[in-house]
Amino acid sequence: MVKTDYEFERIWWNAKAKKEEIDMFDEKINRELRWKEINKQLSADINTILDVGGGTGVFSIPLAERGFKVVHFDLSEEMIAIAKKKSEEKMIKNITFEQGISADLSRFNDDSFDLVLNMDGPVSFCGIDAEKAIKETIRVAKKKVIMTVSNRANMIVSILKSGIRFSDERFIPAIYEMFDTGFWHTQQYGENKQLVKGCTNDYLGPIKAFLPQEIKLIFEKSGMKIERLTSIGSLTNHCGKEFLDQLLEKPKLYHEFIELCDRFDKEICPYSIGSNQRAGLIIVASK
Ligand SMILES: C[S@@+](CC[C@H](N)C(=O)[O-])C[C@H]1O[C@@H](n2cnc3c(N)ncnc32)[C@H](O)[C@@H]1O
Repeated sequence: MVKTDYEFERIWWNAKAKKEEIDMFDEKINRELRWKEINKQLSADINTILDVGGGTGVFSIPLAERGFKVVHFDLSEEMIAIAKKKSEEKMIKNITFEQGISADLSRFNDDSFDLVLNMDGPVSFCGIDAEKAIKETIRVAKKKVIMTVSNRANMIVSILKSGIRFSDERFIPAIYEMFDTGFWHTQQYGENKQLVKGCTNDYLGPIKAFLPQEIKLIFEKSGMKIERLTSIGSLTNHCGKEFLDQLLEKPKLYHEFIELCDRFDKEICPYSIGSNQRAGLIIVASK
């Protein structure tokens, strides 16, 4: 397994900062589905929030604006700079910014925050340290955790689809790695490098993509009560980009579709493929 190089990761995420809020395919819907879940969890006893991997502040800033005391934590100083600028422009006082690695939250005591958000990257992009990052998030949470991680079902499909061109004889080793362990690293197998050509700096990962049962074990062993563990955003991914383009021309249907997406994840296919462009497994758990 390739060791996670956080210095390299920091530079890579810095390079992505300016594009972070340009939504592709199903990213906007994924975010709206997450907002639905977050809003549901914001009960009267939630005052302090840590947003691990807060990025450009798409969640941390509106939450601070609503009066929660927020710590925005991220690996990338470029992401933090964008979020900080927003907070200054809006003159928000109840948010602070910290730079660091999600797998090491040792600067925070146990049970420091009523709610800890850790969404879309800060777990899965730790690669072999992903489980450590989950446990750190749980450790610093006092009441609730909302987390999204890479969905192994989605990673299998995307590696299969982009890897087909490499051979008529066999599927590439990265497919079997994904089935067996859920790990991906650009440097792990020869073809991997060609697969990520066109991604930021022709690079992607390391990634640990999870199965729901792996997540369940980690959370339960850490003493957490799981309230929700499902894929998120699967319906958009199943319907495809062409459908979504048609939907965007019918704005009245858009909000109805979000409700259908939510119901699909919860009632119809809780363990499906998840979103295409964003982390597609969501966990809501309480201590
Ligand atoms: C795709 S963005 C997600 C931003 C936001 N949480 C959201 O859900 O839209 C991923 C963020 O996680 C940060 N990140 C990635 N790996 C991290 C790590 N190991 N520790 C802390 N932050 C990390 C990146 O710098 C980036 O800002």
